[in-house]
Amino acid sequence: MLYEVNHIENFYITNTKYWSFYPNMFQTIAEIHLHTFKGFFLSSLGKKFLTEFYKNIYWDNSGMLLVCRKDEEIVGFVAGSLEPAGFYTRILKKRLLFFALYALPALIKQPKIFSRLLSAFRKPGDEPNDPDAAKLMSIAVQEEYQGYGLGKLLVEAFITECKKHGKKIILLETDAVDNDAVNCFYQNMGFQLSKAYQTSEARKMNAYRFNL
Ligand SMILES: CC(C)(COP(=O)(O)OP(=O)(O)OC[C@H]1O[C@@H](n2cnc3c(N)ncnc32)[C@H](O)[C@@H]1OP(=O)(O)O)[C@@H](O)C(=O)NCCC(=O)NCCS
Repeated sequence: MLYEVNHIENFYITNTKYWSFYPNMFQTIAEIHLHTFKGFFLSSLGKKFLTEFYKNIYWDNSGMLLVCRKDEEIVGFVAGSLEPAGFYTRILKKRLLFFALYALPALIKQPKIFSRLLSAFRKPGDEPNDPDAAKLMSIAVQEEYQGYGLGKLLVEAFITECKKHGKKIILLETDAVDNDAVNCFYQNMGFQLSKAYQTSEARKMNAYRFNL
């Protein structure tokens, strides 16, 4: 499936499930993640870990990985799952050794992040069990292309794909503090704040839902 973006020349939103394989796609996505999520926990685990993470989203039957392309260059992406319940358990079962191996350099540098990593991997229990729910896990647009409507197009394409698969709601979480732009972005797109909560690491989060 190819979504042509009419109002910005040469920008396309593409569902990677229907796209002939693009060399280094996962590394490119990991690089965009590293540049746009500076200082975030997942970024601290490094490019190899992130590459493995996005690869597993693509491989999982429920995974949704849409990219925004300018000609052949990937300039943004949105990732999620149509079956978020058990998602982390599924990917860990398959690739635990790889995740552990790729997280190792970061763990050696900062042993403190071990408990954080463990709690992130215990996340399966936190994932919604509602069969009608899809989860938007991550979205980013390369800095030089931000503010041109590409993020909006990615979310719209994600919504379209979720509808096609019969989903009724999309859930997501984002930081509540020092993150006004992203909270405004989701609210502008019609996401409604459903819960404000604090993680075990005292990180304040906002949970949003979008009714399809
Ligand atoms: C969040 C992100 C994906 C948005 O992509 P983008 O291409 O810059 O956003 P768009 O240009 O499509 O903007 C879409 C809407 O959000 C709003 N918006 C975007 N940035 C905003 C900001 N800084 N403040 C307020 N509103 C903003 C715009 O008003 C726009 O609505 P409009 O069309 O009615 O004007 C992008 O900024 C990004 O990659 N950020 C870093 C990664 C990140 O934090 N991801 C989200 C983590 S959960």
